[in-house]
Amino acid sequence: MKIHLIAAARPNFMKIAPLFHALKKEAWADPVIVHTGQHYDINMSDAFFRDLELPDPHIHLGIGSGSHAEQTGSVMIAYEKVLQKERPALVVVVGDVNSTMACTIAASKLVYPSASQRPARQPGDPLRPVVAHLEAGLRSKDRSMPEEINRLVTDTLADILWTPSADAVENLLREGVTREKINNVGNIMIDSLEMMRDKIEKADAFSELGLTRGGYGLITLHRPSNVDSPANLKTLCRLLVGASQKTPLVFPIHPRTRKNLDTFGLMNTLRAAERIILTEPMNYIRFMNLVFNCHFVITDSGGIQEETTYLGIPCLTMRPNTERPVTVDQGTNQLCTIENLQRRIERIVSGDMKTHVVPELWDGHTAGRIVDTIRKLS
Ligand code: UD1
Repeated sequence: MKIHLIAAARPNFMKIAPLFHALKKEAWADPVIVHTGQHYDINMSDAFFRDLELPDPHIHLGIGSGSHAEQTGSVMIAYEKVLQKERPALVVVVGDVNSTMACTIAASKLVYPSASQRPARQPGDPLRPVVAHLEAGLRSKDRSMPEEINRLVTDTLADILWTPSADAVENLLREGVTREKINNVGNIMIDSLEMMRDKIEKADAFSELGLTRGGYGLITLHRPSNVDSPANLKTLCRLLVGASQKTPLVFPIHPRTRKNLDTFGLMNTLRAAERIILTEPMNYIRFMNLVFNCHFVITDSGGIQEETTYLGIPCLTMRPNTERPVTVDQGTNQLCTIENLQRRIERIVSGDMKTHVVPELWDGHTAGRIVDTIRKLS
């Protein structure tokens, strides 16, 4: 069974890796990694493949950056050609980036030439690709986020919906999806974390930066809503400089954020702060070593809200909403605003800790559950 695993951008690689490794062990499965090229810098892509022990992508579309329509359209055009040639039985898309939606649209509308008269899409039918969405059902209910549009389109079209948590199942049912399409498999990111735990724990990224265990805050910011507006980014920089007077901070800077810090003339503000360490984006193992050993995280990432909940590390999310509410209801996550960030940091630094539990099925066995469901299609 030829199975395409679509990988495009940094957060996707941790989602396909456990599934690729699990499928590789199955005689009936032929997993093929398709990289769209949405992320292309070595430290945004290749480094993750190395860390997650993935082979080089079998197919690379080489799309690169562009506006939303350019990027989505280019991936659709390139991937349709690949689909026609390769004829996979199953296409697995993950997460919510532009390439997720683009590959879903291309695969959903495709009928392999000899099957043009066949009306219905049947799971397991080799004449049409079945599309499965891993991390289905998450909703921020905020359509100003490009990812929310990507999630809505992908879930509407996909044949199989693998959800990470019970709230995602509820969202899909509320939208009228039939129960049979949904399978609550758990959180695949936790599989990657557990798969790499030894290496993460042995990496010494925090001490190499002169930091002590539990003695620093970790910052990641890249959402357009935070970093594309000069006023918001300036205020955030001011707050980070203020917070660094209470505790050291380390800030691996995403390319989008770096470009804007340079354009808005804010880079020097951060560089001048003695206790803010600025780095390039990090590979998975070194970055996760920083997460494992920090006191708290300030972020706008989706995955980090989940990883900190799993690890029991306080997470301050600079967003008005989250598509991962389970991290707030059950985990260590708090949604923050520019107005309350400083107070929240002070509380955490003074030892105030939210009680938390690890959500159900975040147990490192999600890939195994998915393989079981795919086996039934083969
Ligand atoms: C994308 C995803 C976002 C995800 C994030 C993780 C969409 C709509 N957004 O956002 O959901 O959380 O990835 O990082 O799909 N760039 C580089 N090198 C790279 C990649 C990007 O320099 O390897 C720069 C380019 O200037 C590019 C910009 O970063 O224009 C933004 O990249 P893009 O992939 O469009 O969106 P992200 O902000 O990375």
